[in-house]
Amino acid sequence: MITYEHDSRAFYLETDNTSYVIRILNDSIVTHSYYGAKIPREDLAYYNVPAAINFSASIQTGSGCNSPEALRYEYPTFGRGDYRSPAVIVQGCDGSDVNELRYLSHRILSGTPKVADLPHLDTNTDPLQTLELVLEDPVSGYEVCLYYTTFDACDVISRHAVIRNITDSPIQIKALCSASFDIESSDFDMITLQGSWARERHVERYPLHHGVSAISSRRGASSHQLNPFAAIAERSATEHSGAVYGISLIYSGDFRLAAEVDHFDTARIQIGLNPETFSWTLNPGAVFHTPEAILTYSQTGLNGMSQNLHNVCRQHLGKCADPNLKHPIIINSWEAMYFDFNEAKMIQFIKDCAGLGIDTVVMDDGWFGHRDDDFTSLGDWFIYDRKLPNGLTHIIETCRQNGMNFGIWFEPEMISRDSELFKAHPDWCIHLPHREPIESRHQLILDMSRPEVVDCIFEQMSKILRNYDISYVKWDMNRHMTDNGSALLPQGCQNELAHRYMLGVYHLIARLEAQFPHVFFEGCSGGGGRFDFGMLYYMPQIWTSDDSDAVERLKIQYGTSFAYPPCTMVAHVSACPNHQTGRTTPMETRGNVAQICSFGYEFDVGRLSEEDKAAIRSQIIKHRQMEDMINHGTFYRLVSPFETALCAWQMVSKHQNQAFVMVAWQTGAPQPKPLYLKLHGLDPTKQYHIPQLGIARSGATLMHVGLAVTMPANVDHASVAFDLIDQQA
Ligand code: GLA
Repeated sequence: MITYEHDSRAFYLETDNTSYVIRILNDSIVTHSYYGAKIPREDLAYYNVPAAINFSASIQTGSGCNSPEALRYEYPTFGRGDYRSPAVIVQGCDGSDVNELRYLSHRILSGTPKVADLPHLDTNTDPLQTLELVLEDPVSGYEVCLYYTTFDACDVISRHAVIRNITDSPIQIKALCSASFDIESSDFDMITLQGSWARERHVERYPLHHGVSAISSRRGASSHQLNPFAAIAERSATEHSGAVYGISLIYSGDFRLAAEVDHFDTARIQIGLNPETFSWTLNPGAVFHTPEAILTYSQTGLNGMSQNLHNVCRQHLGKCADPNLKHPIIINSWEAMYFDFNEAKMIQFIKDCAGLGIDTVVMDDGWFGHRDDDFTSLGDWFIYDRKLPNGLTHIIETCRQNGMNFGIWFEPEMISRDSELFKAHPDWCIHLPHREPIESRHQLILDMSRPEVVDCIFEQMSKILRNYDISYVKWDMNRHMTDNGSALLPQGCQNELAHRYMLGVYHLIARLEAQFPHVFFEGCSGGGGRFDFGMLYYMPQIWTSDDSDAVERLKIQYGTSFAYPPCTMVAHVSACPNHQTGRTTPMETRGNVAQICSFGYEFDVGRLSEEDKAAIRSQIIKHRQMEDMINHGTFYRLVSPFETALCAWQMVSKHQNQAFVMVAWQTGAPQPKPLYLKLHGLDPTKQYHIPQLGIARSGATLMHVGLAVTMPANVDHASVAFDLIDQQA
């Protein structure tokens, strides 16, 4: 709900539990008054305008003389007395980077605004409102429209900016945030998700300090290293209590997220494109849309913040919000065979999977061009006839005969030097004229900023998807960007490449999805290297990590859940000893850890014992029983694997009549102490039957006394899982 109070010139953006207040001073300065727990609508003028400070530039704001560096801004600029980080830097038609944005007009619109060519949150069924605030700098020659949409039930506000050149000469955008706001205290911790290949999204928490705490990507992808997300949490905030802001970006490329604390201990929070790898020439009359930022605030700790993000993702983000969405249970050929397969092996693999309950068999890397290893063939999306002389026909028929669908792997954004495509178009890779482009995994990146490159890959992929009955595509991206340059862009515009690349990738996916609406797309980038809301808009699940070890997955999935709902994380039960760590874990633990995610398998079923096959059958039955809860329920992190040897989490169904609790021990212990695990989100009045313990207990008891959990004796990497079933339901 958005309202405007004319007397105080204040905008109130309200969700069910939060208020965000913007105020216009002196008819021109757009200031940030408040973001936090819901407050009554009232004039916050007394709170908003600190008096002028010494040794500082001063301006008139209507209520007297003030210092720009002490004001809290909605969209700050550089060069007019505010020395903190600007939200926008434009080299204007006067040749200077000094900008000053002043209020011009506003509208309160119904629905969500369009974010041209970029993924964004959408209305779905809720009636939503959007505030459009127009600011202008006539001297520099541009105006900025700031958009704010309130998602009431999720306690989320989305923001993005559209900048327009209002002069008749080009201007240069040097930096542009999607969102910026100043909070009056800096007594917060920043929590970010850091990692690397096979160790994605580990939780890191550190206090804000004077100066800038920032995370970013310059890799051309949101990256394994630092996810485009941060929680800004009260120092005392825990998983279950305290005030927490959540900030994220619906974008899969280079970003920057920063919290800057100034000399009066206020904190400026900003998120947007990374200005180090972005600039844009804006021609007269042209507009540029930033990616959309997601902001949330919770008073119920980190879990509350995560739940808000999970809800907005599952209710308003593209394919994730499709009411008919069903995540297939897949088995993937990668860890079963790597590149070493042919038609006979693949057919045997499919037959071995028959009758287990699996929905889809996915043929991973190695089916195209002449690809026997990772040195060749990316860009040649035609069948490798030595391995697959009958095309995919027999393979797909075998899937069908055995009641399963067929899925296939592509890495559409890449090109191998050893490929037909490279021979024909050596300048289609990202490169600079006077440097040999650097390879990574022996491959180069296609210049997706070029429409003819997008067209060529679209045609090749369409041919495969048209000719064969394929229900699922795993979309991979196995290297990061170097040599940022495009043969097509003019010299002064080379810094546009990283963003134009993302626009080209999004365009290609959108075209394919429009052409093949029955195909389910899963995202991947060397595991979870592009796990972000941008990709999730198109692909409702992402391979969380190339590390499929159940113990490693505890931290990876726990961390990923800070921003992303478990149903978006793909988790497979894989072979032991595990291929990444060499660790052996019980089959039960592998199943328990993967169960609340988009579930599947990643091994050669033909080598399994009958006991393991029976375990697969019952894991799949169990997963089906939990599907609705996983897709629509509430996820709680209970015990952090970053702080203890334990890890525990819980899922509660929407109507609190079902729950699932998972407890895993990262290592065995000789004499573990008894554990009373306090559960969350249950109905205190309901009696829950727990079949694994043969007891029923009230929600109140389970939440306040706890669930008595015993570690299985003499088992390393043990885990236990409990179902809670409402006896009346
Ligand atoms: C990436 C993916 C893997 C697999 C390989 C194939 O690393 O994350 O799952 O698809 O590529 O080359």
